[in-house]
Amino acid sequence: MELIKAKTIFEPFKIKMVEPLHQLTLKERQVALQRAKYNLFSLPAESVTFDLLTDSGTSAMSANQWSAMMKADESYAGAQSYYHFERTIQRLTGLKHVIPTHQGRSAEYLLMKAALKPGQFVLGNTHFDTTRANIESAGAKAIDLPCKENEDSSSLDPFKGNIDLVALEHFLQSHPQEVAFVVMTVTNNSVGGQPVSLQNMKAAAHLCRTYKVPLFIDCARFAENCYFIKLREGGQTHRTIRDIAQELFSYGTGAMMSAKKDAFGNIGGFLAVQDDGLAEEIRRLMVITEGFPTYGGLAGRDLEALAVGLEEVLDESYLAYRIRSVEYFGRALEEMGYITVRPWGGHAVYIDAAKTLPHLPVLQYPGQSLSVALYEHIGVRSVEVGTVMLGQRDPITGKELPAPKELVRLAMPRRVYTQSHVDYILEMAGYLKSDLRDVPGYQITKQPRFLRHFTCEFEPIKLKKPSQ
Ligand code: F0G
Repeated sequence: MELIKAKTIFEPFKIKMVEPLHQLTLKERQVALQRAKYNLFSLPAESVTFDLLTDSGTSAMSANQWSAMMKADESYAGAQSYYHFERTIQRLTGLKHVIPTHQGRSAEYLLMKAALKPGQFVLGNTHFDTTRANIESAGAKAIDLPCKENEDSSSLDPFKGNIDLVALEHFLQSHPQEVAFVVMTVTNNSVGGQPVSLQNMKAAAHLCRTYKVPLFIDCARFAENCYFIKLREGGQTHRTIRDIAQELFSYGTGAMMSAKKDAFGNIGGFLAVQDDGLAEEIRRLMVITEGFPTYGGLAGRDLEALAVGLEEVLDESYLAYRIRSVEYFGRALEEMGYITVRPWGGHAVYIDAAKTLPHLPVLQYPGQSLSVALYEHIGVRSVEVGTVMLGQRDPITGKELPAPKELVRLAMPRRVYTQSHVDYILEMAGYLKSDLRDVPGYQITKQPRFLRHFTCEFEPIKLKKPSQ
């Protein structure tokens, strides 16, 4: 019996506290969509049955996290909870200075403010949208250098999150004075939650040292990345996740984290750096917006929850369940004819909306269209990761330029939904598939200057009736 490998994935936890799921009729969802101007970020959460908008801040915390929160020290300065947080991150990353922040983007903001000058470049495997916005609002330029394997969303390359090392070296060589630093995002969220290999990180670090450029790791999903390394990279299967993570972090001169992902936090983040001068500058700046350097906008109980979460996420039985359940979801969607980004990533399944809805031109936002349809018919909230989120304007003509891919992300909150929830979504997605050829495209009727996807408003484009 011991040798039999079961096909059924079971959640490696039992449930102590429950909350109801909101169930709406089709008509109620259609009204909610109109009120939200077809922007799913504007839907009240109580209109959503399965909230796969994000895996960020949506985790269920463990009994150990909750009990640590009860014991937390809420002192303004030098709280014991801060030292617990600091020790945990120092042990994991090997980095000297640990600076708590209220979430990932505030760590980005502080780093960009302290270390960037207008006109400089920040290179990366693919900057997440808030990272890009923080770089650009500091007057610098964010350059994405994803590896070539990433171009084909159906290729099964194991490390499609890698940076293109040839392009990186070329850029560093041709702009010797203008590159401020490199950011490696693990896993690479914007290209499908794809992992970065140890080998790629090591080679990028080597280039950064050669050209005397710092390397920061955006480690929001570092544990999922390390589990992929263990599964897929030669010679790594015998190692523990902690051991792999320690090596991964050893290649960075700093790390920043949205602890709302792999640290199972509902809020929080940090910036960890080796350099004394940089840490001093960041601590000086953060007092203005984040708070004193030993709490950084967080309560002592948040620091405790994150310190415990950062240990829990290294558990391999959890990571095996996590990665296998995303794969189960992706495989079933693919078998029904939805075209997904392969291999399936760590925290989400990404549907290639341009290929799934071939009747819509990219500037009618097929990703937006598919995510509206998934909400309208199944009650699932997803997010468009395509031209609405990542599109740019031609600097000369001002014309809208499409993003490289039109994706819809179905992100799995950690430890929240069960396999029967996923089975229900899959069954309904099967019924919806044949109706997708009739879904309309969208146009934007109102939008802000930065990060437009959060607040812009849409209108469906009426499909022309075939002439009689
Ligand atoms: N870096 C990465 C790779 C992220 O995925 C995110 C957030 C951030 C930085 C910013 O962190 O939200 O704590 O300020 N990603 C969320 C998502 C929003 O849905 O993928 P934050």
